[in-house]
Amino acid sequence: MDLGIRGRAALVGGASSGLGRASAERLAAEGCRLAIWSRGEERLVAVAEEIRRRHGVDVVSLVGDAEEPGAAGRIAAEATAALGRVDIVVLNAGYPPPVDPTKTDAAGWARAFQLLATTPIELATALLPAMRAAGWGRIVAILSSGIRQPIPDLVYSNAGRGALAAWLKTTARLVAGDGVTINGVLPGRLSTPRIESLDRGRAEGTGQSIESVRAAHLAAIPAGRYGRPDELATLVTYLASDLASYQTGTFSAVDGGLISGLP
Ligand SMILES: NC(=O)c1ccc[n+]([C@@H]2O[C@H](COP(=O)([O-])OP(=O)(O)OC[C@H]3O[C@@H](n4cnc5c(N)ncnc54)[C@H](OP(=O)(O)O)[C@@H]3O)[C@@H](O)[C@H]2O)c1
Repeated sequence: MDLGIRGRAALVGGASSGLGRASAERLAAEGCRLAIWSRGEERLVAVAEEIRRRHGVDVVSLVGDAEEPGAAGRIAAEATAALGRVDIVVLNAGYPPPVDPTKTDAAGWARAFQLLATTPIELATALLPAMRAAGWGRIVAILSSGIRQPIPDLVYSNAGRGALAAWLKTTARLVAGDGVTINGVLPGRLSTPRIESLDRGRAEGTGQSIESVRAAHLAAIPAGRYGRPDELATLVTYLASDLASYQTGTFSAVDGGLISGLP
């Protein structure tokens, strides 16, 4: 199936690993030109080279820290300069640490909101005017199942992503008439280094084996397994495509049935 995005320019965050990397790969496979960004230059450059070699598309790597105020404006400007324009943006970066929700502090909230809300909102805001003027744009945010079913020790993540979801929904309605769609995807538990480190941290913190931590998570996933990054990337790419032109303001889970409530 032709997704109609060959030659489109896409900016993908957190693209040196996990879900961002899988999304970048899938967009490249559809013929998109890419700017990818994250903090660690070495890994980013290696991933850019691999995607370029595998899919034969231009890939620019941009170094930035989503926890740093001002990073979004710079990344948006550098991506636009490198690609000529940005048609598609995948909002994604890192994660705040697990914390007991009764022991949060102001510095932790400030970092979490910068990373999960302020930076992605500033990035999308910087890129929206050109998308609206062109009459075509796609914004896809990688959120979390935690915005529908809060995850016990990830209160910074639940709340920060909830703020971003509220902005996405509000803005999607405003720009829908200009050919710009804005959607969110909600991963449940997909096998990436992030999930590996969360499971390891839980095992160390509770004195359980990593196998029993995983078994407890698996018991809550009707599909009976963790997902693969490409299972999320397929949806990200569809939402970024020309085919998804009438879908906006939606939040779709990729979670093997983990979320038990209605949407
Ligand atoms: N995997 C899941 O099942 C799952 C479930 C729910 C939510 N999520 C969320 O989805 C996002 C991606 O997770 P993942 O599983 O793909 O994790 P991952 O494999 O660890 O990848 C994270 C990516 O983000 C980059 N990154 C980290 N901190 C950053 C920062 N401050 N600024 C810019 N880039 C940063 C990393 O590169 P550098 O370290 O070099 O910057 C890396 O490229 C995270 O927000 C995660 O919390 C994932």
